[in-house]
Amino acid sequence: MFPSYKYHIFICQNERPGGHIRGCCASKGSVDLLVYMKERAKELGITDIRINKSGCLNACENGPTMVLYPKGQWFCAKNKQEIDAILANIQTA
Ligand code: FES
Repeated sequence: MFPSYKYHIFICQNERPGGHIRGCCASKGSVDLLVYMKERAKELGITDIRINKSGCLNACENGPTMVLYPKGQWFCAKNKQEIDAILANIQTA
C-alpha cells in the first residue's frame, strides 16, 4: 500500500561551490524554505501534499526552484510569504 497525496512539491536543494556560473538553490535559501513549507503545511492542516527535496531541476538561475504536481506548476518562491501563497492556492483548489 502506497501513501496517497493529492499534490507533490519538489524543492531543489542542490548546492554548488560559491562562484559557480549557474549558482544554486541552496545558496538562495531553498533548504530553509523547504523546512518552513513543511512546518506551515502542518500548522494549516494541509495533509494531502507531500513536500520533497529534489536535486537540480535545471532552472538554477530562477531559484529557489520548485515544481508542483499534478499541476506541473513551477515556482521560484524566494521567501516565506511566497511559500504561504503557494499553500493558500492549494488550500483553495
Ligand atoms: S540548482 Fe536548483 S534548479 Fe538547479
